[in-house]
This record gives sequence, C-alpha cells and structure tokens, in this order.
Amino acid sequence: MAAALRPRLLVLLAVAAAATGPSCAGAGRVDLWPMPASVARGAQTLLVSKDLRLSTAGSSYPDGKGILTEAFRRMVAVVELDHAINGTYSRGAPVLAGVHVAVRSPNDELNFGVDESYRLSVPATGDPLYAQIEAQTVYGALHALETFSQLCSFDFNANLIELHSAPWTILDAPRFPYRGLLIDTSRHYLPVPVIKGVIDSMTFSKLNVLHWHIVDEQSFPLEISSYPKLWNGAYSYSERYTVDDALDIVQYAEKRGVNVLAEIDVPGHALSWGVGYPSLWPSATCKEPLDVSNEFTFQLINGILSDFSKIFKFKFVHLGGDEVNTSCWSTTPHIKSWLMQHSMNESDAYRYFVLRAQKIAISHGYDIINWEETFNNFGDKLDRKTVVHNWLGSGVAEKVVAAGLRCIVSNQDKWYLDHLDATWEGFYTNEPLTNIYNPEQQKLVLGGEVCMWGEHIDASDIQQTIWPRAAAAAERLWTPIEKLAKDTRSVTARLARFRCLLNQRGVAAAPLAGYGRSAPSEPGSCLRQ
Ligand SMILES: *[C@@H]1O[C@H](CO)[C@@H](O)[C@H](O)[C@H]1NC(C)=O
Ligand SMILES: *[C@@H]1O[C@H](CO)[C@@H](O)[C@H](O)[C@H]1NC(C)=O
Ligand SMILES: *[C@@H]1O[C@H](CO)[C@@H](O)[C@H](O)[C@H]1NC(C)=O
Repeated sequence: MAAALRPRLLVLLAVAAAATGPSCAGAGRVDLWPMPASVARGAQTLLVSKDLRLSTAGSSYPDGKGILTEAFRRMVAVVELDHAINGTYSRGAPVLAGVHVAVRSPNDELNFGVDESYRLSVPATGDPLYAQIEAQTVYGALHALETFSQLCSFDFNANLIELHSAPWTILDAPRFPYRGLLIDTSRHYLPVPVIKGVIDSMTFSKLNVLHWHIVDEQSFPLEISSYPKLWNGAYSYSERYTVDDALDIVQYAEKRGVNVLAEIDVPGHALSWGVGYPSLWPSATCKEPLDVSNEFTFQLINGILSDFSKIFKFKFVHLGGDEVNTSCWSTTPHIKSWLMQHSMNESDAYRYFVLRAQKIAISHGYDIINWEETFNNFGDKLDRKTVVHNWLGSGVAEKVVAAGLRCIVSNQDKWYLDHLDATWEGFYTNEPLTNIYNPEQQKLVLGGEVCMWGEHIDASDIQQTIWPRAAAAAERLWTPIEKLAKDTRSVTARLARFRCLLNQRGVAAAPLAGYGRSAPSEPGSCLRQ
C-alpha cells in the first residue's frame, strides 16, 4: 500500500516544486494545443526510450484494423522528426520505456458522438516506466497519443527525446462533438495526397469532421457509379476522384478519428451537373438551379445519395440549399407552366425541392445538414432530423435551437478561412453558444466548422490558409469554456509554439502575425512570427 501511495505524494511534491518557480524548460507554461480539460504536472525530466514500446496488455480492444498500432507509429515519427536518436542513457536517469494503452470498448466504428475522452498519465518513477492511457474508444486513445507527442521534444545535447515536467495527469474530453473543417474541391481540384495532408494536420489540433464540399457550379470531379456522365463536369480529364479515391479518403480519415461529411449543394450550386446531363438545366441559356419540374432531377439525386451511402458512413449528409436564385424557374416556359399546374410560386418550389431532397437522404439512412437559408425561409417545415448550418452571420444558432433543431456554427465574419482579413484572434473568440443559456438548447449546438472555400486557394497554398487560424477555432471547440482565454494575448505564445510544431511536422502553417496567410515580416525565430 505504501508503494501505491508514492506516486500521489510525488505529484504533490512536484506541484509544490513547480509552484515555487520554473525549475526546467517550459515549466511556466503548459505547451499543449488545444488545452486539455484538466492538467496536473510535476518537475521531473524523463528520457524517452529509443525503442518506445506500445503495450496493450489487458485491453479489450483487438485493434483488428491496426488503428492504434499505426497511430502509435505516426506519433513516434512526429516526435522524432528525423533526428538521429542515438545518444546514450546515463545511468540513473529515468527512462520512459513505453506507453500502455487500455481501450475499454472493442468497437472501433467511428461516427458522430463517439466517446473521444481519455486519461493520460506519465509517472516519474517505475520500473519499467510506462505512460498510461485509458480511453473508452480507440479514438480517445488517438487524442491521448497526440497530447503525449506534444509533451516530448528532442534534446540537442543528448541526442535523445525527453519529456519534461513529469509526472503528468491529464483528463480530457471535447466540449463539442462536431469540430469541422470544410474543403472545396469544385472551385479548385485538390489532389488526393493534399486532402490526406489536410486530414493529418487536423488530427494535430483534434478536429474530427472533414466537410467535403465535393461539387458546385464550377466542376463535378467525383465519379458517380449510378450516373457515369456526371463527372464529365470535371475541369479536366485528370482532375477527378474515382469511387476508390473517395473510399480511400474516407478510410484514411476514419483511421485517424476524422469523419467525412459529403455535400451535394442543391438546387442552387449545381450547374456543373448539367454538363453530363443537360436536361437538369432549366434551359441551355438558363442553367441553374436544377430543373425542379423534372422527375429525372430527383431520380439522379436518389442515385447519388444511394452511391454515397456505400462510401460515406457518417451519420450526416450535407444537402446545401444556400443562395438559390430561382429566377430561371419562372422565366423558363416549361417550368413556369409546371409551377402554375402545381399552384406554386418560386419560393414554394424552393421549399418543395429542399424537402424532397431531404426525404431522399433520409431514405438512405442519413440525417441531413442544410445551410441556414433553408431555416430562414421555411424552418418550421424542415424535417426534425435537420441540422442547420449557420454561415451568414451571428445570431442564427440561438434561433435554430429555440426552434428545437440542431445547429453547426460557421459564421463567415469569424470562421471563413478564405476571408484573409479574419484574424486568429477572431477565430479564437467566436463562441458557438453566444446568447444560448438553456442547457437543453446548448446541447443542440453540435459544434462548429471553419470553412476553407476554394475560389482563391488550391493545392499550392491551402495549408497555409487553413493554419494556424483553424487551430484557434479548434481550441474554442475542444477546451472547456472556463479554461479558454478571455484575452487572446495570453495564448499567443502557446499558439505560436503550436504553429512552429505544425511547421516541424511538415505542415505549411502561416505566421500568426498579420492577416491570414501572411509571409514572415522579418528574419527571426519561428516562435516570434
Ligand atoms: C548519431 O548520428 C549522427 C547522424 O547519423 C552521427 O553523425 C553521430 O556520429 C551519431 N552519434 C553517435 C554517438 O553514434
Ligand atoms: C438571379 O438570376 C437572374 C438571371 O440569371 C439575374 O438577372 C438576377 O440578377 C439574379 N438575382 C440575384 C438576386 O442575384
Ligand atoms: C408564395 O406563395 C405562398 C403561398 O403558397 C405565399 O405565402 C408567399 O408569400 C408567396 N411568395 C412570394 C414571393 O410570392
């Protein structure tokens, strides 16, 4: 029993030591991003074994798909960062031999609402000395490994990895279940390896939904088996994704704890669909929105969503519904007479289209996400399975949850990454629960999403436009509200350090200073840009 008590005593002693003043590098600041829910640490420096072992003894999770083993290997790689780890361990210095991971659930199906919590402890003594991770699911364990990686650094004197401020006890869980990033492959094509790079970088700040705005009016890059001419709307022969590419992206993301939300934006943003199937256009001179009077339009949507249900297993599909200019419907004779036959005006027809598309998505097992115009125009008619995606401005989430629907926040003034004048401070302070005080209504806000619209970015600059601003939003969405900085100046140094960490890991994150995607203003340390 006395032995069992020792670690706790050590924590107390170490905390007391840390409180008396910085006794080792970084002691003044916990350099983790996003900040965990609860952190306690000591003042001991450990060396990390060159052959850090993963132990899963006694775990009820079989790791049949290798999710945990591969994540462990990636974690070691981002800690070692290609340095030669060939120093010698001095006798007597404590060496961390491995990480023991205990995952309680054998189920590794990733979906919305999966338990992402974890407990990570790094004791300062023990023989052998092992860090301990406990999590309900493997996805919580993945977050724990990311946190662990941020505790480690290369010691340039010893040529070894070290871990400061042990013992650590970290209890952590996300504040919101939906923490998204939108990419847009219609305005500019993004090659598959670029998308995978974005997914990798998301895991470093614990984002968990890649919203893939696949198609829009400009191009239709994805193969759809049921309607093989749709990708005739691609920009070029090679700027395309096969079904296998899409499956590959989804599997790659899932192995990293990232869900993929697929979007088709109907009826407005769909001009490119008619390149392969011109009858979807109202006419050859008036090409959007999709022809509401044509049964083929809905058959085709049914085909797409049927194909999607075999690829995209996330609980939700996004059906767009924003910026619908219906003037082609009343200026095209055959649609105009259809409207009259059905006693509909243009806005009735817009509602009819959105609700019919919702029913099709539900028939394929999906809950639906729609952009906020659908709510603003006919919120009381939307299916109760609808999640309203805010983008136009603030103040929408409170109306949506008051109406009993779920909401995702992406107000463009703060969380649109293509707005280069939107600052990281604005990303950090954008609070999804503004003016929402009722706990039941708060639960209806699933989270938020930062949006990397593709009109003015492509593979050449996407990462530096996303980072570090997306990371500022990631902490807002992950960390308990009482632990978030009220004054962003108190997190600048920690975010700058995280930005350098992204650079070290090969992510082209831009400097913090200035606006989005600014170049470094002058020579100097990464930490000061
Ligand atoms: C460690 O590796 C580096 C780079 O390969 C090499 O230059 C150095 O001599 C090695 N040191 C030891 C102690 O083996
Ligand atoms: C809607 O489209 C019509 C024809 O394409 C155009 O003349 C009109 O300006 C558009 N309305 C808005 C509000 O953009
Ligand atoms: C369209 O018709 C509905 C009734 O079906 C009516 O409430 C609405 O005001 C009309 N909208 C327009 C823009 O005329």
